Amino acid sequence: MRFDIITIFPGVFNSYLKESLVKKASEKKKIEVKIHDLRKWADDVHKTVDDTPFGGGGGMVMKAEPIHKAVSSLKGKGDKTRVVLFTPRGRRFNQRRATKLTEYNQVIMICGRYEGVDERVAKYIADEELSIGSYVLMGGELPAMVVLETVSRLVPGVVGKESFLQERKRGECFLECPQYTRPENITINGKKRSVPSVLLSGDHRKIAEWRDKKGKIIK
Ligand code: ADE
Repeated sequence: MRFDIITIFPGVFNSYLKESLVKKASEKKKIEVKIHDLRKWADDVHKTVDDTPFGGGGGMVMKAEPIHKAVSSLKGKGDKTRVVLFTPRGRRFNQRRATKLTEYNQVIMICGRYEGVDERVAKYIADEELSIGSYVLMGGELPAMVVLETVSRLVPGVVGKESFLQERKRGECFLECPQYTRPENITINGKKRSVPSVLLSGDHRKIAEWRDKKGKIIK
């Protein structure tokens, strides 16, 4: 699965891609991640990617043409591609939408910046607009990392214990249950804190029931 991220701040991704598990996944060739500087597709000497809004008003708007050129040149021939634009007004990204994105061979992500993006990008270039939450960030770079990581870990072979991932995947939901590890008893602020006895019982049916009861469904 290939991810192409279009941004005017390519450097923002450096340490994340160098140090995260996403890097390991790329090394194992489970995914391919490419960061593209939008200015590469600007055709004037100043590499302009934004301009003032028609109708007046403050701020700058990202131009549609460089984005159009970028997306057209990055779309793999014959690939099943999904083009995503990050905006705060987009549809809310969640586990179900992440699972949906795994159906594509290529996800092209457009990171919006400044006060906005020419509306023709949302209307005619992107397949969907996604938001990672109801708050306003300064751009789509953090949302791109969130989507990249969430979708990557669903790609077979990316996380070590795949069977474990499958086990917790219910349709398109995840069951997140409490986890404990050694030691069995610890002291926190002067009080003994123990592991729930059912987890030490060795009774797999009971453990599964307990996990179902305590688990939180993430959709
Ligand atoms: N751009 C700015 N805020 C955003 C958000 N919450 N989600 C996606 N893109 C954004």
